[in-house]
Amino acid sequence: MTDASNDLTMAHTTAGSAARAPGAGGAADVAAPVRIRVSNLDKRFRTAGDGVVAVDNVSFDVRQGEFVALLGPSGCGKSTILNMVAGLLDATDGEMAIDADPVVTGKVNRKVGYVFQRDTVFPWRTVEGNIGYGLEIAGVPKEERRRKVERAIEVSGLAGFGSSFPRTLSGGMRQRVALMRTLILEPDILLMDEPFGALDTHTKLEMHKTLLEIWERERQTVLFVTHDLGEALTLSSRIILLSARPGRLKEDFEVPFPRPRDAVSLRETAEFGQLYSHIWHSLGEEFRRTKAE
Ligand SMILES: Nc1ncnc2c1ncn2[C@@H]1O[C@H](COP(=O)(O)OP(=O)(O)OP(=O)(O)O)[C@@H](O)[C@H]1O
Ligand SMILES: [Mg+2]
Repeated sequence: MTDASNDLTMAHTTAGSAARAPGAGGAADVAAPVRIRVSNLDKRFRTAGDGVVAVDNVSFDVRQGEFVALLGPSGCGKSTILNMVAGLLDATDGEMAIDADPVVTGKVNRKVGYVFQRDTVFPWRTVEGNIGYGLEIAGVPKEERRRKVERAIEVSGLAGFGSSFPRTLSGGMRQRVALMRTLILEPDILLMDEPFGALDTHTKLEMHKTLLEIWERERQTVLFVTHDLGEALTLSSRIILLSARPGRLKEDFEVPFPRPRDAVSLRETAEFGQLYSHIWHSLGEEFRRTKAE
């Protein structure tokens, strides 16, 4: 690796990034290769009773550079799908592939980064120690690690907090640490499970800004789980709507808003409002089905 390529991928603004970008409006580039393929996926959990069907015959593709939101009510199987794609959980039936290689449960794929639903920073490590953890495990030399961590701290708005411990940070700051700990490993496929779910509205918007800035520069291939329609519309290029449990694929929406997007002013546009209410009807039905159970 040259010195220049040692910088965080997120700092690059090269033609290489542009080449793997989808259309400027955020629409999928149909010529782009499929990075994540999910085919006829089923998941049934054994329980003391009859068992739970969490996922029922779900199929979708995510192409290079797409930002896809997996949207659905609580308990519809979103985390279950993501865990299977990440190889953390066996499927009952169906197939998943990353770059056409079948996903093998328990086998780490270095192309894939995962940001978990829960706050998973290590309380005994400082911000720097947390962000640099994966690099340390990978045996990246100290000086290179220091440079990358410094850059990640700057990009994520954590300047001045490098030697702070997580207990002294706000929830939003901890979530930035968790995000950077994954991004610093430069995965070109990102799986994110409601990473901002526990944050208040204002902090969430701040995180959306940070993530949009990084993603619009880098165009990683992203599968982002959420039950927040506003969040899905702000960030994604496409929304896959799941039904209430068992999670089935209900609809697939393009999100054509131009990029770069501003997380705040986008929400004030008529186009945002129109697409919000269009999808809301469909999502609302599933929320009601969840409540009626
Ligand atoms: N290990 C498990 N054993 C039994 N049932 C499980 C297990 N994990 C998940 N489930 C069930 O599978 C269903 C889907 O769970 P999952 O966590 O995927 O939902 P989710 O869509 O991510 O919800 P949320 O938005 O609340 O995070 C739920 O009914 C849940 O109770
Ligand atoms: Mg979940």
